[in-house]
Amino acid sequence: MPYYYSLGKIPPKRHTQFRKPNEELYSEELFSTEGFSNDYSLLYHVYPPTQIIKTEKPVNVAPEIAEEKMLKHRSFEGFNIKPSEDFLNSRIPVLVNNDVHIVLASPETSVENYFYKNADADEIIFIHKGMGVLKTMYGSLPFSYGDYLVIPRGTIYQLHFQNNENRLFIIESFSPVRFPKKYLSKYGQLLEHSPYCERDIRPPESLETHSEKGDFLVRTKKKGILYNIHYAGHPFDVVGWDGCCYPYAFSIHDFEPITGRLHQPPPVHQTFEANNFVVCSFVPRLFDYHPLSIPAPYNHSNIDSDEVIYYVDGDFMSRKNVTRGMITLHPGGIPHGPHPGTVEKSIGAKETKELAVMVDTFHPLMLTKQALEIENEGYIHSWIE
Ligand SMILES: [Fe+2]
Repeated sequence: MPYYYSLGKIPPKRHTQFRKPNEELYSEELFSTEGFSNDYSLLYHVYPPTQIIKTEKPVNVAPEIAEEKMLKHRSFEGFNIKPSEDFLNSRIPVLVNNDVHIVLASPETSVENYFYKNADADEIIFIHKGMGVLKTMYGSLPFSYGDYLVIPRGTIYQLHFQNNENRLFIIESFSPVRFPKKYLSKYGQLLEHSPYCERDIRPPESLETHSEKGDFLVRTKKKGILYNIHYAGHPFDVVGWDGCCYPYAFSIHDFEPITGRLHQPPPVHQTFEANNFVVCSFVPRLFDYHPLSIPAPYNHSNIDSDEVIYYVDGDFMSRKNVTRGMITLHPGGIPHGPHPGTVEKSIGAKETKELAVMVDTFHPLMLTKQALEIENEGYIHSWIE
């Protein structure tokens, strides 16, 4: 995170005595996602965050790989993933490698009787359908359609939904998710040419301190294993915190598109970056305005990256038969481009209403068992008229 933020009560100096009304000390915790060498926050807990009462037998939740190597264009019906009552059960990994897991989820109920922590991966939860509140130890963040919820790894959270029909596109990143370096000043401010700025970033907005003692289950995922760890203090017992590492929301609807006289390449849509992958947002925008411009993209040979597009809404001008929630995977190594007829059709068009999220990975993705269950057969031949 690029900027400093604070919520609740904190002492004037870090690492000094900070006492409760009963004169006991609050428990200070430094929270960072890269040792002591990256952005961090200092949190002040009512109870030490270390008080484990008991642990349960670990559960294996690692993705089951069905195809490790392949060279085919693929497409998947994301909305064919079955809804599941529980948030963790609902999470279905579809495309994975060592840098990133792409996960679909359709949870029907809020997380209430446990807390969740992803100890390995930052999570970007894109809200395709649904609204509610992300509750974390840093405070609460209301969310709705189009929000990216960016949650640093190690953050303890619960998702509370308003309704039971929810569709999430989740990107698990095994390195910290950052704003693209090209948008940042040398001290970390989002520059004038960035398609979004600090005003568009929503940090947690209210901090409720829970000082209850009891038995609190934090389901913690590490290396594909889910550990059920019971703590003596409520995980949301923070009275205050400050720093630059915290969850935040950013709405895709606040991404300001960069357009030109001629077709702009995918990097203008870049929204986030991490080690070995980027995330881009395709949003409604005016088309290219050169008198002879072709708004549809040219064929391209992304030889060193796999390109995943998750279709959210609107018409996707360069593809035929696109459905909401569809995922296409165009692997590095073979070119891809607009579908037959879409180039001519795009000429003269003034604007597009398309809304999509793209993940470009610099190492190949593997397909899970569940990905094959929702695959559209024959997509590789869809460029033949
Ligand atoms: Fe592409």
